[in-house]
Amino acid sequence: MQGDDRCDATLDQGLRGVVPGERAPAGDAAAWAGRLGAPLLEAYPAGPGIVLVAEDPPALQILGRKPPGPVRVDFADRRLQRRAAGTTARRDPLARAIGLHRRPGTAIVDATAGLGRDGWILAHLGARVSWIEASPTLAALLHDALARAADEAGLGDTTQRLRLHPGDLRQVLGELPAAEREVVYLDPMYPSGTTRGGVGREAQALRQLHGSTAGPAGGELLAAARAHATRQVVVKRPQRAPPVEGPPPARSVAGRAVRFDIYAPA
Ligand SMILES: C[S@@+](CC[C@H](N)C(=O)[O-])C[C@H]1O[C@@H](n2cnc3c(N)ncnc32)[C@H](O)[C@@H]1O
Repeated sequence: MQGDDRCDATLDQGLRGVVPGERAPAGDAAAWAGRLGAPLLEAYPAGPGIVLVAEDPPALQILGRKPPGPVRVDFADRRLQRRAAGTTARRDPLARAIGLHRRPGTAIVDATAGLGRDGWILAHLGARVSWIEASPTLAALLHDALARAADEAGLGDTTQRLRLHPGDLRQVLGELPAAEREVVYLDPMYPSGTTRGGVGREAQALRQLHGSTAGPAGGELLAAARAHATRQVVVKRPQRAPPVEGPPPARSVAGRAVRFDIYAPA
């Protein structure tokens, strides 16, 4: 992993600080606060936003009167493991859009890594995956989760196929060797009000973390991805949303609640 100073700290303007977990060693919260440059808090603060709870594994917790449950980056999570065990490169719509069933071992840049779940599934299915993530908090959580998964029985092989590059994809993509960016995959944040973005607690947590910072528009991310992918670009969209701004996709693959738009390189 490269230095977190390449990340966009303004992306995490909703992070209020780090709260100690109930059963975690006392020093953990201070270590996380130092790592993220965030305030170390004694208790959950009042008002909106999100905190990082320093427990094992660490959690993002939305604040407020009726908050949803915690969100973790945890590759040993049972739901993620079931998803991984229940799919194949031929069955998984994202893997199909990428063509992983025809070319096992494809080098993919998951350029908006987020909680790392899509990238993890692709690596589990045999792809070589480079994660890029601009949020310093999410990049640190991915780094931590990858290190924990490397020691877990049954997960070590997948971790060997994953690399993390903290930073903005518009800068980092051009620094990766061409052989690592056959396919660039984008899962941009959805504007509030769109179908998928409004529901899950994971999407809510990412929105809270980023506060009012929208980040670059999908069209700008697509242009950067098309400039650097050597074979194709795949963009995840809510099922009924229009494609991101730019040239029309060459074709699309439908998933259950989303679709994957496929573009040729520029
Ligand atoms: C919807 S989430 C991706 C979720 C991910 N596919 C998963 O499976 O967990 C989008 C992510 O893109 C990140 N992001 C937004 N703009 C970015 C940029 N310019 N460069 C890199 N990452 C960016 C956000 O911080 C956020 O974590």
